[in-house]
Order: sequence, then C-alpha cells, then structure tokens
Amino acid sequence: MSDTFFLDGEAIPFSPGQTLIQAARAAGKYIPHLCWHPDFGAHGSCRLCIVRCGGREVAACTTLAAAGLEVENASAELDAARRTLLQLLFVEGNHFCPACEKSGDCLLQSTAYRLGMRDPHFEHFYPDRPLDASHPDVLIDFNRCILCELCVRASRDIDGKDVFAIAGRGAQAHLVVGAPSGRLADTAFAASDRAAGVCPVGAILRKRVGFAIPIGARACDLEQADGCTAAAALE
Ligand code: FES
Repeated sequence: MSDTFFLDGEAIPFSPGQTLIQAARAAGKYIPHLCWHPDFGAHGSCRLCIVRCGGREVAACTTLAAAGLEVENASAELDAARRTLLQLLFVEGNHFCPACEKSGDCLLQSTAYRLGMRDPHFEHFYPDRPLDASHPDVLIDFNRCILCELCVRASRDIDGKDVFAIAGRGAQAHLVVGAPSGRLADTAFAASDRAAGVCPVGAILRKRVGFAIPIGARACDLEQADGCTAAAALE
C-alpha cells in the first residue's frame, strides 16, 4: 500500500522517490509547470510549479512527496505569483501568439490562459536575436526561448547529440547551438530528434508542418477545461 500526502486537502498516493508533481500528475491533478516534463529529470528553473508546504514555497517538481505532507496548490496567492512569472517570461521574449505557428499547442500560452494572465504588465524587452533557419528541416527562433532546457536535456540524454546549451547567466542567459559556426545546420541535429519536438513554446519548429493541425483543433483549443490533459497532449 502506498503512502499519501494531501494536495489541497485531498489524499494523493505516492511511491517512494516520487516528487509532488509526479504523484499529483499520476492522480490526475494539475500543478502548473513549464520546465518539468514527465520524461526528464526535474530542472527546477521556471518556478511555475511553486506550491506551499510546511509554511514555505517549494518547487513541486523537485520536492519529494512525503507521508502526511500538507501541500497547497490551488490558491489565489500562488496563482498571482505564477502569473507574475508568466508575465516576465512573456516580456523577456517575443511571444506574439496570434502570429506564432505554435499557437494552440504552446504550454506557455495555455498556462497563461489557465492562470488568467490578461496582460504582460511589464515593459517588453523586445529582444532581437537572429533566427537560425540554416537547417533544412528545423527553424530556431531564439526570441521565443524560455530557457526551460528541455531541448538541452533531450538532445543530450535521449538523442545523444548534445546539440544545445545555455550560455551566459541571469538576464544574459540564452540558448546556443553547439557548433563552431553556431548554426544548427552544422550539427548532427535531425527533425526526428526528441529535441526537435520537446520545445513547449515556438522556439524550435519543424519546417513545413506549421499548420498541419489547423488553429481551432490544437491541443489547447480542445482541452481548455483540464490542465493535466492539455499539458499531457503537448508532451
Ligand atoms: Fe518546477 Fe519549472 S516546473 S520549476
């Protein structure tokens, strides 16, 4: 018999070694997240998954479930903090959803909808990072990267190619391609790589398939009512 912790008062079973978000997800409970993905180790950078337990805020993706733990996830205060994080992500990049071919299949966009983010609040940075369209099958728009490092982890841990890395720190942090030229075409990257499909936003896009699924029929168009289902559909 597995132990349980309490998520917003509801008993959630967990296995030893499971994090709060893993156990919650297995129980069909949605905890907002961007840099966490069920196929990868936790990264703990976006802080969207903050929950409150033991009187402090912790990341649900890096905190192990423990028997009897009382965890608060669904609260106006936590959602307000998450909205601020989302607003910062929106202004730090160029996320113009109506013009983005990932619209409707974007975890950043769907999370913003779900958490009721109505405006960016902060001044836009309008970064001007050159696109990389050098690869025959994949385009990179660095202006949409949210530094979740999912492509870094996928390319390194699953594809075994180590194509991507994050360079710089703090506000200067940015995604780079690991080739002397810095161009994706000069790497072993392929459109079939796991890293080509794991981007939760529109930073890494396969070419010539952008509107294969029409707007209105995409994962988040269909699943607005259920965070778990929408997030799972994007994974
Ligand atoms: Fe936990 Fe990003 S999902 S910090």
